[in-house]
Amino acid sequence: MSRRPFIAGNWKMYKTGPQAVETAIYLAKLCSGVNDPEIMIAPTHLSLPLVAQAVKGSAVKLGAQNLYFEQEGAFTGEVSADMIKAAGAEYSLIGHSERRQLFGETDDTVCQKIKAALGSGLKPVLCIGETEAQRDEGKTYFILDKQISDGLKGFGLGELSELVLAYEPVWAIGTGKTASIEQVAEVHEHLRSLLERLFSKDLADRTRILYGGSVKPENVKQLMGIKDVDGALVGGASLDADKFIKIIKYNE
Ligand code: PGA
Repeated sequence: MSRRPFIAGNWKMYKTGPQAVETAIYLAKLCSGVNDPEIMIAPTHLSLPLVAQAVKGSAVKLGAQNLYFEQEGAFTGEVSADMIKAAGAEYSLIGHSERRQLFGETDDTVCQKIKAALGSGLKPVLCIGETEAQRDEGKTYFILDKQISDGLKGFGLGELSELVLAYEPVWAIGTGKTASIEQVAEVHEHLRSLLERLFSKDLADRTRILYGGSVKPENVKQLMGIKDVDGALVGGASLDADKFIKIIKYNE
């Protein structure tokens, strides 16, 4: 099965509304005529409606960086999946390592958030990854398998057809240290076979598995050349549209 390549930008807590709009408009212009890969940017919640307008009618799609799993209620400071969907997003990152490390997110909350996203018609991008200490202790697959099996616990096959997976080794995020081609190839192959074991061959074949962690114009082509790598989740290098477009056009 051929999977459509997917390049996603995670803007983290960067850019005010006007700055996000400016970058988004320029990026949309740079992306005109690009059919593949699928392109997504995830600005802050606050900028979602503004950026939705800015990229309307372009090849650039919108995603959120996080959501809360309750539908509504007395949850001060949180934003629901319905609200994000209504703001114009199609995707939401879920379980990004910064959420797990800095904001106490667990595989259990990740699971609830995926459920909420699907319930609102948002496509979840489930982020997983091991820390440097976990890799050094030889626990990489134990951690990744747990993040997937607990994060996707209780879902039926039909529910996960739009799932996107992002493998982001924590030690490679924002550090300039990219995982080696061999490391990425081995993990991605493992993840696809895990999906097959947990769900089905069809789901494993259709699920796009992105790599994230210091992806830049200089290394994207090599990473995208790996058999089970279907895209990239890009942090720092997605903030500058002139840089990000080089990643998007990795094939040219
Ligand atoms: P980075 O971030 O590209 O800056 O390493 C990736 C991410 O956190 O998704």
